[in-house]
Amino acid sequence: MSGLLIRDAAILTMAGEKPELLSGDIVVRGSAIASVAGRGEAAQPGAEAGAGEGWQVIDAGGMLAMPGLVNCHQHAAMTLFRGYSDDLRLMEWLETKIWPAEARLTGEDVYWGTMLAIAEMIRSGATTFADMYTFMEDVARAVSETGIRASLARGLLFLDRHGEERLREARALHEEWHGAADGRVTVMLGPHSPYTCPPEGMRKVLALAAELGAPVHIHLAETVEEERQCRSAYGKSPARYLAGLGLFAEHQVLAAHAVHLSEDDLDLMAGMRGGISHNPVSNQKLGCGVAPVQAMRARGIAVGLGTDGAGSATTLDMFEEVKTAAWLQKNRAGDPTALTAYEALRMATREGARALGLDGRIGTLEPGKAADLILVDLRKAHLTPRLDPVALLAYAAGGADVDTTIVNGRVLMLHRRLLTIDEGEVLGQVEARARRLIYG
Ligand code: NI
Repeated sequence: MSGLLIRDAAILTMAGEKPELLSGDIVVRGSAIASVAGRGEAAQPGAEAGAGEGWQVIDAGGMLAMPGLVNCHQHAAMTLFRGYSDDLRLMEWLETKIWPAEARLTGEDVYWGTMLAIAEMIRSGATTFADMYTFMEDVARAVSETGIRASLARGLLFLDRHGEERLREARALHEEWHGAADGRVTVMLGPHSPYTCPPEGMRKVLALAAELGAPVHIHLAETVEEERQCRSAYGKSPARYLAGLGLFAEHQVLAAHAVHLSEDDLDLMAGMRGGISHNPVSNQKLGCGVAPVQAMRARGIAVGLGTDGAGSATTLDMFEEVKTAAWLQKNRAGDPTALTAYEALRMATREGARALGLDGRIGTLEPGKAADLILVDLRKAHLTPRLDPVALLAYAAGGADVDTTIVNGRVLMLHRRLLTIDEGEVLGQVEARARRLIYG
């Protein structure tokens, strides 16, 4: 079996409750981690493995290896709308700008927009993303070709007469793509939100989720307007509306945003399978508020981090989410000890994997896990001195410090060079397509 030897790295495994820093080699066999700094397969030391035929060796001196970041909430192809319409309220942004432009989207547009997002994610250290959008077979194609890992959901809305058609597409996506691309693609069902899925539509989605055994990815309680609208339509908060349909008790759920939750809402969600995607940059940029992350974590709910689409968040750099998440909770609590650097990094890795139901495969550097990892180059002015790598990663590092990105044992970026994407072509395609979508 071919393999990969990462030699002489500082290693942050993210496996323990406290930071665990090792140094040494990481041996990857096929798609899995075989050993980390001598832990794991003892009989085959890295040096010996690296000497063999078909082995790739990466010198990681001066670099830190950590699990690849998990971006828990994305609309990847919305890179097409990056910087197009900022500084608007969410509903106005959707209704006057985004939905009209999206009505002109083709599958090829979505493919190229997703390729751009994947290029940006690989460059900034994200190795897995959860996506909800349209033309998902084109998204799946981009995921398959580029080597990244993704959990995909066809966005389901029931405000027009195409609800059933979208549901059929969701079923077809699951049949064709769940477990595909060497297991890198998993499929969820994506009812867009309480405000776009009335009870009849929501019940159909949940019946299909039960039939397929698929998790449910949904936007939840993102804005005050949503909360008000839900109360006037159903006399309940968005979380209680969904709980009434059996969502949290009966399904594995990935709930995005979860900003406006009461104590009562949080109690309804305690014990849920799956978790929350906290999207602090998007929430701040749209003025949505600050999610009660500490209260969720206190109830044992897995809280991962996500960027949301580039149409709203503008950037897909998960290191910005790590910083912002920590800062917001410190400010919310008026306490700098709230949400530590290590806790914020755990949200970006292991907790995110748990929110996606993938924690058995990814999220830590341990023998037997899939080899999804990044090398961060610490030999930089803003990352010196290296007294506490955890603090540097959480508060000083940025996506551009990621030197090498590996998914499922395959090197997707080596020393800042993308190996599976023709970046020049992707940039050109998106520039032209974005102009057509927006200006006609
Ligand atoms: Ni979103």
